[in-house]
Amino acid sequence: MHLLNSLISSLLVSTALAIEMSSIVQYSVVDLLNQSETMGVTVDNATYPLRLRSNNTRILYSGMGPAAKSGYNYVRIYSNNTVVEEPFKRAPVTQNTVNEFFNRTWNNYSIARLPQIYPPLAAIKRVPSQLHKEGQIPTIHISGNQTLFDKMHGNSTADLSVMSNVSYVSLNDSLFYQDVEVSLAGRSSRWLPKLSYNLKLDKKDRLYKYRRVKLRALATDPSYIREQLAYDIVKSVGLASSEFSFVRVFLNDQPLGLFGIIETFQDPWLANTFASGSTSYKNGYLYQGVFMSPQSATQGHISDLSYISNITAYGDGQYKIKQEASKGDKVNWKPLQDFTKFISTAPTNQSNAVITWKKHVDTDSFLRSMALEVLLGFADGYFAMADNYYVYQNLEANNYIYIPSDMDLTLGSTMFNLSQMWSGNYSTFPGLKTRPLMEKILQVPQFNKQYNELLANFTNMLINPNKTNNRIDDLVGMLQEDVAWDKTIPRVGDNIFGQIDPTAAGNDTSSILGAVIGSAVPMNMDPVTAANMAQRINASIPFMTAVDGPTGYISLAGVKEWISSISRNVTGFYHS
Ligand SMILES: *[C@@H]1O[C@H](CO)[C@@H](O)[C@H](O)[C@H]1NC(C)=O
Ligand SMILES: *[C@@H]1O[C@H](CO)[C@@H](O)[C@H](O)[C@H]1NC(C)=O
Ligand SMILES: *[C@@H]1O[C@H](CO)[C@@H](O)[C@H](O)[C@H]1NC(C)=O
Ligand SMILES: *[C@@H]1O[C@H](CO)[C@@H](O)[C@H](O)[C@H]1NC(C)=O
Ligand SMILES: *[C@@H]1O[C@H](CO)[C@@H](O)[C@H](O)[C@H]1NC(C)=O
Ligand SMILES: *[C@@H]1O[C@H](CO)[C@@H](O)[C@H](O)[C@H]1NC(C)=O
Ligand SMILES: *[C@@H]1O[C@H](CO)[C@@H](O)[C@H](O)[C@H]1NC(C)=O
Ligand SMILES: *[C@@H]1O[C@H](CO)[C@@H](O)[C@H](O)[C@H]1NC(C)=O
Ligand SMILES: *[C@@H]1O[C@H](CO)[C@@H](O)[C@H](O)[C@H]1NC(C)=O
Ligand SMILES: *[C@@H]1O[C@H](CO)[C@@H](O)[C@H](O)[C@H]1NC(C)=O
Ligand SMILES: *[C@@H]1O[C@H](CO)[C@@H](O)[C@H](O)[C@H]1NC(C)=O
Ligand SMILES: *[C@@H]1O[C@H](CO)[C@@H](O)[C@H](O)[C@H]1NC(C)=O
Repeated sequence: MHLLNSLISSLLVSTALAIEMSSIVQYSVVDLLNQSETMGVTVDNATYPLRLRSNNTRILYSGMGPAAKSGYNYVRIYSNNTVVEEPFKRAPVTQNTVNEFFNRTWNNYSIARLPQIYPPLAAIKRVPSQLHKEGQIPTIHISGNQTLFDKMHGNSTADLSVMSNVSYVSLNDSLFYQDVEVSLAGRSSRWLPKLSYNLKLDKKDRLYKYRRVKLRALATDPSYIREQLAYDIVKSVGLASSEFSFVRVFLNDQPLGLFGIIETFQDPWLANTFASGSTSYKNGYLYQGVFMSPQSATQGHISDLSYISNITAYGDGQYKIKQEASKGDKVNWKPLQDFTKFISTAPTNQSNAVITWKKHVDTDSFLRSMALEVLLGFADGYFAMADNYYVYQNLEANNYIYIPSDMDLTLGSTMFNLSQMWSGNYSTFPGLKTRPLMEKILQVPQFNKQYNELLANFTNMLINPNKTNNRIDDLVGMLQEDVAWDKTIPRVGDNIFGQIDPTAAGNDTSSILGAVIGSAVPMNMDPVTAANMAQRINASIPFMTAVDGPTGYISLAGVKEWISSISRNVTGFYHS
């Protein structure tokens, strides 16, 4: 009897064990802990320890536990055994979890896409890549000498870099890179309290086929979504540029916050964009327009694509050679000079004008980009500032293609007069009439007609609330918890802005403007709007107010406010 009982009970035990064994799952969670903390997962009512999955990363914890009956959540455990738990329960899983993020209620957010309204330009052969993961926010942890980072952050205008290790964790991937060169990105953005970074991987390393990426701080955009939308729309109208997505970033022992990630326009970007990533691709020169430099200013030159007979003057700093041709010299301004010479002498109303233009310029790339400058309100682009664009010498087509970039000051974030930007009549847009390439191309009747049609068609098909609101609402839903997190994070920049008395802004406009846009102030900038921008940089503007508008700042329309205004005004302009 006794024997039978014990046999039966041991059978029961092993059956129970078998059931339990079959429903063991691996839990994985991403967060950065203090040395004095450990991670655990509470499954139903019992807590199981999680450990760093690999010595290569400080942010990914994994461990086994039973599948939950009612639910589970992750807990941070202090050395005194105090527990900080996620304030919600996660639904039971029967398989290994993805790499979840501590205290985020979602892993994968479903986001409405914009329609692809124009096919990609014929020149584009973009390599497939996992870099931009729709509906996810991967995490990057940078680890390097903190003393050197403190030096970099404390002197943000100096050009320092820190060799670091970087780990990247998304829902399904955990990647690790050694010898990554980390430096500060941008020019005037270095004056802001939240800084942007360049990551340059070791020669042979790639992050989803890219060697260099930028982490964009989104510091001037309290809606956080301007760059995402602008890059989405650039893609939707078939132009070449980077794409954009969000990441969370940590540096050594501290969070840096919510960032955007874009590809840097350097090797192997051209091969990835124009040759499906081919390693034997022979690229031409990629020139970048960067407005002006102190040296070019003394010569009265900005990067507006006007012709200069003195070739040396192209190298005064208003342009950069972002990438030299595969077979070319490191410094060579001749192709750019030839291109600007064509612009200055191009035919306008001769019968062969269109054919001649197309031999030299991918005219669709330029006209579509210029339509977006107006419709997305580029405050820092070719029209307004002769800034933030590339022209690429495409050897295959033997012509130049225009590439827009840097889209933070868009969609109503501006240092120009909003009423001139969103009037719906493109001729009031700041700078439009003075840029040589625009002035010339609009003199060709067919291109003039095409430009007007593009403005009307883009508005009708894409840049109106009916087409953009679903995506905006989904992005906002996805970002809500991360924006709240980002706002709590102490900034590491030396914040030159914060040291300027904002009430003095109106009295010392030039220094404030210099801080916003760089060293020199263009003629057509609106000083009152620019000063207003400087004043709002350190102000706290609520997320939803920044998305919806109005914000109370003349330098910042709400994103939705911009789109409804421009679509209404452009439609009105073409109806009258
Ligand atoms: C680590 O612990 C210290 C002291 O309790 C605290 O000030 C700091 O915020 C903690 N850091 C993190 C990342 O939790
Ligand atoms: C967890 O504990 C609570 C309170 O002690 C109890 O009411 C509940 O039934 C337990 N749940 C599970 C799944 O064991
Ligand atoms: C991490 O490093 C320690 C000490 O070098 C080693 O014992 C351990 O096995 C490593 N763990 C992993 C997951 O690689
Ligand atoms: C345990 O440690 C944490 C972190 O240092 C602290 O915030 C908390 O107050 C401590 N709890 C107790 C009961 O000492
Ligand atoms: C970090 O850099 C500083 C300054 O160069 C140097 O003195 C220090 O030894 C470095 N620390 C480590 C851990 O390498
Ligand atoms: C900042 O860097 C510049 C250039 O490297 C250097 O001349 C200057 O002394 C540094 N300033 C401080 C405060 O470290
Ligand atoms: C050509 O441009 C360079 C660079 O701006 C300048 O130093 C030089 O004086 C110019 N030459 C002439 C002849 O203007
Ligand atoms: C364009 O939109 C703005 C804001 O919605 C409005 O103030 C303005 O009057 C509109 N029309 C013109 C022609 O500017
Ligand atoms: C604009 O749309 C109309 C109607 O669909 C089409 O006929 C025209 O070709 C389009 N224009 C351009 C420049 O794409
Ligand atoms: C948006 O859709 C509604 C309903 O179909 C329509 O009445 C309105 O004109 C559309 N607005 C725009 C800007 O296309
Ligand atoms: C979780 O996030 C919310 C904001 O979404 C925040 O209020 C709360 O303090 C966080 N809790 C923990 C334990 O991190
Ligand atoms: C700015 O100038 C105005 C008018 O000159 C003056 O009233 C005001 O006090 C000045 N503000 C500051 C902070 O200097």
